[in-house]
Amino acid sequence: MTNPRPIKIAPSILSADFADFGREIRAIEDQGCDWVHVDVMDGHFVPNLTFGPKTCAAIRPHIKTVMDVHLMIAPVDPYIDAFAEAGADIITAHVEAGPHIHRTLQAIRGAGAKAGVALNPGTPAAHVEHLLDMVDLVCVMTVNPGFGGQKFIESQIAKVRQLRAMIGDRPIHIEIDGGVDPRTAPLVAAAGADVLVAGSAVFTGGSVEAPERYGENIRTIRQAAEQAQASWA
Ligand code: DX5
Ligand code: ZN
Repeated sequence: MTNPRPIKIAPSILSADFADFGREIRAIEDQGCDWVHVDVMDGHFVPNLTFGPKTCAAIRPHIKTVMDVHLMIAPVDPYIDAFAEAGADIITAHVEAGPHIHRTLQAIRGAGAKAGVALNPGTPAAHVEHLLDMVDLVCVMTVNPGFGGQKFIESQIAKVRQLRAMIGDRPIHIEIDGGVDPRTAPLVAAAGADVLVAGSAVFTGGSVEAPERYGENIRTIRQAAEQAQASWA
């Protein structure tokens, strides 16, 4: 088995104050997050609405780390250029969002962004097997996408393990999205995940006025995951 990769914590701004994204992003970055996870929802692919490329472009100048854009929209292809132009470093599309995920991933890289592919909880790992040479990240949804604060779905841990084996030495991140907290982070880190998205578990108890709590939350999740990686390595 390959060496574990450094754990990255990617807070989801779905749990931030929507009227204050600039200061919220500065707060989580000052407090030590690695990436900023941006959840785009269309009210069609998922039963919730968030925002589009214009908001992404507006928050881009506030992000010093990595802008990780998770598209929960269908269709995806007509909007890829707009999110790339908005400054997304990584654009992740769902394998379930349309019949032509291969074309979608080509379009994401063609637009100059890194390409991610996401799997809903009901979708098997095998659905990305023939896509691994065209992605930089596989996102395993550990809740049904649409809302923050949902319960982690334990059955996805086995999927992470399968993906880790399937990916081998390829430089592909395994990202976990949904219900990540200090209890569940070690479970997925031990299974081979390296990027942990966390909304509620990072933003809980803190604010832009009291950002230290964001830092404590980030450190607690990171330490729990790193300890699990150490025992797995
Ligand atoms: C769910 C989103 C997640 C969500 C995670 O559809 O993709 O990024 O914000 O939120 P928590 O960490 O609260 O489960
Ligand atoms: Zn997400």
